[in-house]
Amino acid sequence: MKPGKVDALLGIVFGDEGKGKVVDYFTPQYDVVARFAGGPNAGHTIIFDGKKFVLRSIPSGIFCPDKINIIGNGCVLAPDLFMAEAKELETAGYDIRQRLHISKRAQLILPTHRCLDHAYESLKGKNKIGTTGKGIGPTYSDKAARVGLRVGDILENFEEKYQALKLRHETLLHNLKYEYDIEEEEQKWMEGVAYMRQFQLTDSEVEINRYLSEGKSVLAEGAQGTMLDLDHGTYPFVSSSSTTCGGVCTGLGIAPSSINDVFGIFKAYSTRVGSGPFPVELFDETGDTIRRIGNEFGAVTGRNRRCGWLDLVALKYAIMINGVTQLIMMKSDVLDDFASIKVCTAYKQNGQTLEYLPYDTEGCEAIYEELPGWQQDLTLITTEAQFPEALSNYIKFIEDFVKVPIKIISVGPDRNATIIRN
Ligand code: GDP
Ligand code: IMO
Ligand code: MG
Repeated sequence: MKPGKVDALLGIVFGDEGKGKVVDYFTPQYDVVARFAGGPNAGHTIIFDGKKFVLRSIPSGIFCPDKINIIGNGCVLAPDLFMAEAKELETAGYDIRQRLHISKRAQLILPTHRCLDHAYESLKGKNKIGTTGKGIGPTYSDKAARVGLRVGDILENFEEKYQALKLRHETLLHNLKYEYDIEEEEQKWMEGVAYMRQFQLTDSEVEINRYLSEGKSVLAEGAQGTMLDLDHGTYPFVSSSSTTCGGVCTGLGIAPSSINDVFGIFKAYSTRVGSGPFPVELFDETGDTIRRIGNEFGAVTGRNRRCGWLDLVALKYAIMINGVTQLIMMKSDVLDDFASIKVCTAYKQNGQTLEYLPYDTEGCEAIYEELPGWQQDLTLITTEAQFPEALSNYIKFIEDFVKVPIKIISVGPDRNATIIRN
């Protein structure tokens, strides 16, 4: 944390790395927490004092009193889902109305965007992306096509603007022969719009830059992960936003020179939800064991997460794209029982050995190195001095490979199960 600067915390694999937990853990050190990309496709889990919350659109800094939380211009927001999420926090006793600011430039996800998401997925058949069905792709497409609705639009002549975009979608859906009934959903959505008007809708880019000039510090909370980034992920099996460090600048309206640390967060193994290439995927009992122990089921959709060993080729690529300065390794405890642990250090594709991430990882086979497991309960550990030797060796192996230090080791879902290394 540095006064007047932004630190970014970015998922650097396929999402679900544990961003919510660490943002919540870091928040006391910062003045402001801001989401810069994605929307309700995200599911960020936070556990403390025996309570569990899964946030989708609201930044994970919301549980720390007095901190400003911002939904930035790079985000997409569904008013009905936002209302449900915010009300859950209000019911739990959190006073969020003054502390949660929403960018007027964030794009609105309409009910018909969700229909389009489903329609496009059905059209793709077996090539479907496996989206979260939250209307993310169609909303960002409308943004790029310059026809989208923004949060600021709800302040004036909204009904008219809404009907115009809805009509456009209806034409598309009709052409796609997609049948739908959104009457009830639309009602809730409009309720959500009215509810959102009670929040501070701001020019968040001006607001954030003012905070920075006042010497305040900002934590940018990533959503998804680098391998799901629209440009740098496993296209077309990606989300539709910039999930990387560049997205922090555009998604918050800050200059690159404002960014200080870039925290890259990953799990001690790999997971992926949805379709697309995943060279380290395990289809055997080991994969099932990781899924069971790691409870690898989607926070948003409940789908099985595909599981595999850690992929250092992908990690190295993500570190390069984001300029990661410090790494955070999550869910280390999930590997407690394994006698040996594999890590992918290269790929084999068309008979060639690759040490970098190729244009397309389809058909890549993972080449592994095998390291001894620690076979010890990490959840009982609270300091680095108590690390089993095999864990220290695992950490060192990764650090030597990617040339960036791992500063935090997470050994459980609770806020407190977090070990800082010196
Ligand atoms: P996010 O989307 O990056 O915020 O991550 P998710 O919340 O989707 O998924 C991470 C899951 O792992 C959640 O269920 C967390 O409660 C859990 N979790 C986070 N850190 C740890 C850890 O160190 N160990 C274990 N066992 N679970 C963890
Ligand atoms: P957090 O922030 C894991 C995946 C979907 C799908 C692809 C596109 O919790 O880490 P979309 O609905 O965005 O068009 O889906 O991206 N995906 C995620 N996977 N964690 C996420 O978010 C994800 N958000 C999207 O499963 O494969
Ligand atoms: Mg998640």
